[in-house]
Amino acid sequence: CTHPSAKPESAVSPYACQRRTTLDNHNKIFTDALEVLAENLELSGNQGPSLAFRKAASVLKSLPAALRRQEETQHLPCLGEHSRAIIEEISECGSSSRVEEILNDERYRTMKLFSSVFGVGPKTAENWFCRGLRTFEQVLSEPSVRLNRMQTAGFLFYEDISKPVSRTEASALKIIVEEAVICVNPSATVSITGGFRRGKEFGHDVDFIIKTPEAGQEDVILPAVIKRFKSQNILLYSDLQESTFDLRKLPTHCFDAMDHFGKCFLIMKLKHEQEMDARAGKDWKAVRVDLVAPPLERFTYALLGWTGSTLFLRDLRRFARLERGKLLDNHALYDKATNTFLPANTEEDIFAHLGLEYIEPWQRNA
Ligand code: CTP
Ligand code: MN
Ligand code: MN
Ligand code: MN
Repeated sequence: CTHPSAKPESAVSPYACQRRTTLDNHNKIFTDALEVLAENLELSGNQGPSLAFRKAASVLKSLPAALRRQEETQHLPCLGEHSRAIIEEISECGSSSRVEEILNDERYRTMKLFSSVFGVGPKTAENWFCRGLRTFEQVLSEPSVRLNRMQTAGFLFYEDISKPVSRTEASALKIIVEEAVICVNPSATVSITGGFRRGKEFGHDVDFIIKTPEAGQEDVILPAVIKRFKSQNILLYSDLQESTFDLRKLPTHCFDAMDHFGKCFLIMKLKHEQEMDARAGKDWKAVRVDLVAPPLERFTYALLGWTGSTLFLRDLRRFARLERGKLLDNHALYDKATNTFLPANTEEDIFAHLGLEYIEPWQRNA
């Protein structure tokens, strides 16, 4: 049969970079459950096994409609036996007993609570849990617990920074960041990246990328911007990581490695538009802000990397290496066949280098 309407639906790619994943998720009941399973594994240090559930959830997020029949999952990639069983149980019973069990598990709940503090990762959270600590009060009154500077700020501003940041707040911050950047270097520009660039309405922070038009300018801009924020009394915490970038370095295989660009992780004061928050007695909200300042010739790679999503970028890098013999990371794209770095002025250039259809930022919510 060659009638076009009889053709099977085009197959879903196992690579997230070959799928268009918007925020319009028609399979949230399944993906929420799979992500709880993934998170539970991540909180116990099992990053590898958690990836299977993350990938399964990501495939379902890319579907144009809700799964109806069990058979529909047969043709989907990245769904292991375990993920299929969870989907089947939810289809039949409305929920998964394993997921319910995790959500009620004291260890999961405590680890999730502790790791929601800025500066507290799974290792610290587990350490506190194993010492019998269950609440913030217990952690803060335990004499043997020594908080580092990041964790101290994390607890100090917990109430504010644990609340989602809205798009409106992100736009207000952009104006503040832009003003400071332009004051330091009038030819520099600021763009929002991260989840907000992918169209999210809320984020856990606001990510900005700074573009400087001349070589070397990227190294001086972040310290100067931080200095200006300090003088404006709007900086609550800052961790500046100076650039260790080297133009000759090849892109890394390791996905979890941080990039080498100059960057800073901040907590900033964002003034309320409305009257004072009477309860808190302050007229500002603490917000997490990340800034990155790559050199101009690597700007596009940094923009792509910082736009995410994490899973989208992981698959883009895997696709580049396994399907195209090219190495991609936040710094560059390197062709192993010709031993050359591939330049890119736009994100479209990078997808073209990889022989991929262009995926818009709002379609990268894998
Ligand atoms: N990122 C990175 N290198 C870093 C920090 C972040 O490449 N040193 C990337 C992450 O992989 C992600 C993006 O920058 O793709 C944004 O990170 P993050 O703010 O953690 O996530 P968002 O997608 O913005 O989600 P949220 O809305 O929760 O902030
Ligand atoms: Mn839709
Ligand atoms: Mn973000
Ligand atoms: Mn961030």
